[in-house]
Amino acid sequence: MIILGIETSCDETAISVVDCKGTLESPDFKLLGSALVSQMKLHAEYGGVYPNLAKREHIKNLPIVLEKALDEAKMEMGNIDAVAVTVGPGLEPALWTGINFAEQLGKEWGIPVIPTNHMEGHIASVLTDRSSMKFPALALLISGGHTELVYLKNWTEKEVIGETKDDAVGEAFDKVARMLGLPYPGGPEISALAERARNSEQGTSIKFPRPMIHSKDLNFSFSGLKTAVLYYLRDHPGADKEEVAREFEDSVVEVLLSKTRQAVEKYNPKTLIVGGGVIANKKIRESFEEIFTNLDLRIPEKELTTDNATMIAMAGYLSHLSGRDNEIALKAQGQLKYIS
Ligand code: KG4
Ligand code: ZN
Repeated sequence: MIILGIETSCDETAISVVDCKGTLESPDFKLLGSALVSQMKLHAEYGGVYPNLAKREHIKNLPIVLEKALDEAKMEMGNIDAVAVTVGPGLEPALWTGINFAEQLGKEWGIPVIPTNHMEGHIASVLTDRSSMKFPALALLISGGHTELVYLKNWTEKEVIGETKDDAVGEAFDKVARMLGLPYPGGPEISALAERARNSEQGTSIKFPRPMIHSKDLNFSFSGLKTAVLYYLRDHPGADKEEVAREFEDSVVEVLLSKTRQAVEKYNPKTLIVGGGVIANKKIRESFEEIFTNLDLRIPEKELTTDNATMIAMAGYLSHLSGRDNEIALKAQGQLKYIS
């Protein structure tokens, strides 16, 4: 089955053509072609994503991205068997642009449209290299909009076992970056500063909290950490930004590792998936690779950590195989949850 994936839930307009084969237990994916336009620079001056600007840009970019992706895949309309489109969670005005575009293609080409969950996409993002995986699995999803731990009994039965009570990890990176006068998105900027501090090997007297690290549940909170950074900068004019970045990143790493370790102990998964834009972070990635050595740790290849349409095509295929493609409505659902 050749699936055309469409992703417009936030600030990336992306289309991928993926050759999808195999079963739910052992799917087999091959990326044929893809194109992506990021609006990151446009939104940078707002310090975050501005929904109506995102909508306008998606509408402008979708036809261009479609042509590029089809070109690269050497495909024409007659070759595509289905369209998978993100319907949520995400920004509704942005989601609608992808949905309307998908519906139009579906009609024109006479093929079905598979409404797809963006978070299932992030989970499926690890399936490009070695497709089949052992269950039960645990997924830690860390992005600009989400921070959650998901237990997967199999590809269809999922349960959120922990989530952030306030800010998402990526959001905390972005907000702290802003306090430090760094551009959006802040993750890569902070990461670079923190690494410089680590390389210089000087000690630090800064100690930020590790929010909820001792709570008895698997939930997260990052807004207190963000506030701690704010107060520290207020009380220490001229503070060393590299040191602040390192201590902030260390706090995030410790919390993510601790909660994931607790979840692994409690649920005993065979596979651990870590997906979402924040896993592009070198320190976080290396820490996970160092700690979780006795289960199958799956981290997506770099281009598939941040939002993309390849993961949507793959998730759409799995949802189609499980016969659930009609259980999600084909409309923008900003707060879409997993079906269980
Ligand atoms: O998955 P994603 O592209 O979009 C959402 O679905 O939210 O994630 C974007 C987030 C941003 O908050 C960005 O700051 C963060 O991922 N990010 C990073 C790094 N690269 C991107 N955070 C920490 N370290 C990085 N190297
Ligand atoms: Zn995402």
